[in-house]
Amino acid sequence: MAVKRFKPWFKRAEEEEDGGGDMTALKSLALNNVPVKMGQTLCICSRGSITIDNKKYYFVQKLDEGGFSYVDLVEGAKDGRFYALKKILCHDREGRQEAQTEMEMHQIFNHPNILSIVAHTFVDRGGKTEAWLLLPYIGKGSLWSVLEKLRDKGSLMSEKQILQIFRGICSGLKAMHEKGYAHRDLKPTNVLLDEDDRPLLMDLGSMNRARIEVRGTREAMTIQDWAAQRCTISYRAPELFNVESHCIIDERTDIWSLGCVLYCMMMLEGPYDMVFQKGDSVALAVQNPVTIPQSCSYSGSLKMLLSSIMMSNPQERPNIHWVLDQVQDLQSCSPNTQTNMV
Ligand SMILES: Nc1ncnc2c1ncn2[C@@H]1O[C@H](COP(=O)(O)OP(=O)(O)OP(=O)(O)O)[C@@H](O)[C@H]1O
Ligand SMILES: [Mg+2]
Repeated sequence: MAVKRFKPWFKRAEEEEDGGGDMTALKSLALNNVPVKMGQTLCICSRGSITIDNKKYYFVQKLDEGGFSYVDLVEGAKDGRFYALKKILCHDREGRQEAQTEMEMHQIFNHPNILSIVAHTFVDRGGKTEAWLLLPYIGKGSLWSVLEKLRDKGSLMSEKQILQIFRGICSGLKAMHEKGYAHRDLKPTNVLLDEDDRPLLMDLGSMNRARIEVRGTREAMTIQDWAAQRCTISYRAPELFNVESHCIIDERTDIWSLGCVLYCMMMLEGPYDMVFQKGDSVALAVQNPVTIPQSCSYSGSLKMLLSSIMMSNPQERPNIHWVLDQVQDLQSCSPNTQTNMV
């Protein structure tokens, strides 16, 4: 069964040794874009610019590669703003439909904690189709990259900062669940942080209707295979490893992943990252209650919240409203929560 790649940290534009801040110099970098068939909405010229919806953007540099895409940093020729251009290679009709759904998902929401989309188009490239999603560039990068930097410094996030970021993530998720959708691939690399630490949920490519009714073994296998492809293994909810023949899968798969994200903010690695990296069975590990290391210095209330979110049985797992209420209570109870810096 295919599993999604565990994403490493990448260097962002402003951190590159050769002066990522000098965008004029970066603009003159040679491009590796090959000519593409010109569509109505897009063209690529020799100066390394692209046009989407009659607006011109300059390629700046590569940003990152995901399991399904690669992402470039581009600059608007007119507005001088930076954007992330996500290019998804669509292997077949189904792939194209999935990319179309991802574009539509961005458009459904207008929420401060969900990444918006600026423009999109499909491009013919060597007989294959690429979906291009033009997204606002979020300079601080992913939550994962921020946590990795802390780990490198031997530092931790303060409880106050965890609660603030976590609350934003919950708000974004609440908006999705209230509209009847589930994200299905929530993890620290799929949360961006802006300069004010506002989290933005992104990578909406695995999103689908929250409530899935499973009727029979065949449907169960289809969903299990889909989850193996689209829901990152170390953040995947227990019920998606062995889908029962007659059951309802709902948005509580996200609540499990949300718990893993909270754990990751506290421990600087996901609860099942090590299990996966050692080659042990994540499917088995998620059946047992999550263990919070003795060394964890956060408040008892935060640890309790984590344990109550990460219930293996989805029926015992809370919904997003409950989680959000708890976070708000924790924030109001301890406005000056200790910083926990190591
Ligand atoms: N708007 C953005 N601003 C800044 N960085 C971004 C932006 N969009 C994407 N990135 C970076 O690119 C990475 C990959 O993007 P994304 O998660 O959308 O791709 P994917 O192929 O769907 O990834 P996955 O491996 O999670 O399936 C992100 O983790 C992030 O580091
Ligand atoms: Mg991603």
